Amino acid sequence: MSDPLSSLSGSEPAHYTAPSQNLKRVRTRHFQTAKQQGIRITGLTSYDQLTAAIFDKAGIDFLLVGDSAANNVLGYDTTLPVTVDELIPLTRAVAGAVTRAFVIADMPFGSYESGPDLALATAVRFMKETGAHAVKLEGGVHSAPQIRRIVDAGIPVMAHIGFTPQSEHGLGGHLIQGRGAAVDALIQDGLAVEDAGAFAVVLEMVPAEAAAKVTETLTIPTIGVGAGPDVSGQLMVWTDFAGLGSGRVPKFVKQYANLNQVLTDAVTAFREDVADGAYPTAEHNYE
Ligand code: KIV
Repeated sequence: MSDPLSSLSGSEPAHYTAPSQNLKRVRTRHFQTAKQQGIRITGLTSYDQLTAAIFDKAGIDFLLVGDSAANNVLGYDTTLPVTVDELIPLTRAVAGAVTRAFVIADMPFGSYESGPDLALATAVRFMKETGAHAVKLEGGVHSAPQIRRIVDAGIPVMAHIGFTPQSEHGLGGHLIQGRGAAVDALIQDGLAVEDAGAFAVVLEMVPAEAAAKVTETLTIPTIGVGAGPDVSGQLMVWTDFAGLGSGRVPKFVKQYANLNQVLTDAVTAFREDVADGAYPTAEHNYE
């Protein structure tokens, strides 16, 4: 398997090398050098150890244990209700399952907005209790003091601007951000999080042209979620890209599989086999 980021600078101690593959642990510096060298970064969300191990082995560079677990694991309608206590075991499962991928813990709504002290306390909990390598939080200019405090404590931060789902009600719904003149505010947000020390920034649901401008302006890499091709990397919610959900999939998602159908077919076949007496047969029985 080709491993684009492994060509980047920096040697690692042997214990960071996966036993079965010659893959190194992805570090924050690899994000930076990837942008400089035009190597595109890949990221997926993951909420459990089984998918984390698969994505890691396939060479995905970073796994985000997103607060989208609210919708995709816990059955909430939005990301707003999910708590730090709910995300910690999911993050621990993902961090424990990877050898190469960089694991990012998403800080949920209510766990950092009130100021840098709370933000640092939440970030420290994620780092101490999960084994994640970084945290992510939403917001540009307004979240810069929180980002600075966390980074000053030695914890890498991925920022998140453009459409920020935790502010869905404040933004008036799932609306594209940074259109027209609003690109200036988007750039200001990007510059603010870069200046605060974020090692990368997610741009969610922004026009491709605006994302290209932000990417060009910033030194840190930009990670697009519905932000077109001219960014430093792409992130997708895994249940969307693999077609596991049954709800509406955003326009920017390319579906690489239809796991909903695959599982439905398998479950239906199992039910029918049991009903018909076709399972189990002699080959499945213990002597
Ligand atoms: O929680 C999440 O999945 C996210 C991505 C959509 C960026 O924050």
